[in-house]
Amino acid sequence: MRGFFMIICAGVGPGHLDFLTHGVAELIRGADIVAGFDTVIDAVRPLVPPAAQVVTMGYQDQVERLAWVAAEHHGGRRCVVLFMGDMHFSGFQYLERVERACGHPVDTVPGISSAQVLAARGKVCFDETTFLTFHRRGDLEPFKRHLVHVLADQRNAIVIPRPWDFMPSDIAAWLVAQGAPPEHPVEVWENLTLADAHWRGTLASCTPAFTDMSIMLIRALAPMASQIEPPSLA
Ligand SMILES: C[S@@+](CC[C@H](N)C(=O)[O-])C[C@H]1O[C@@H](n2cnc3c(N)ncnc32)[C@H](O)[C@@H]1O
Repeated sequence: MRGFFMIICAGVGPGHLDFLTHGVAELIRGADIVAGFDTVIDAVRPLVPPAAQVVTMGYQDQVERLAWVAAEHHGGRRCVVLFMGDMHFSGFQYLERVERACGHPVDTVPGISSAQVLAARGKVCFDETTFLTFHRRGDLEPFKRHLVHVLADQRNAIVIPRPWDFMPSDIAAWLVAQGAPPEHPVEVWENLTLADAHWRGTLASCTPAFTDMSIMLIRALAPMASQIEPPSLA
């Protein structure tokens, strides 16, 4: 897909290799260094060429590991840094870390997001849905306020929780505290594309402890009516 690259950031899809694009698979096969969080690397290990060096990392050592990858990139090795799902949803802080380590902007190749898979499983239309993540460092308050407005505007919300301090049960309780109806339906989907699990309930009953591979769908209480022409009677 791309010719020569020195370093590139690529999304690997939300888990199963069926959701990895052909182009990203090619980038991995052509890399000298394949870097990313352990869970992401584990998903693509079968594609990593035997001669390539794998650099795994976690939250604690990401700065130091990315500094090493950036130095190798400056030394002329082809590096691909992998992101879970699509980096344009809940991945920009990691991208910022990659760019800071390199000292320059880095191109991105999108992957398929868990939000896209959820939209397909739950049959919701992007146009009528807002995507929100709490899985980020820093002040969550503007994002929390935005979620209240999204639901008040009768839009669906696809929401990534933050492990472990703002999980689905915390989000649901917080929404109720802000005045959302306790009976507002909510769904939590886990391990999409791998071992899909689906929980349905209400904001009031959203109390189970879900894993960090969970994503919420809060549908609008009054879904938008169809705006296409009425069916012909003929
Ligand atoms: C840092 S965010 C990255 C999201 C990713 N960029 C995407 O587009 O899916 C990681 C969170 O995404 C959600 N997630 C990612 N893959 C998932 C999957 N297969 N099933 C359910 N949730 C998933 C989980 O909430 C997980 O903690």
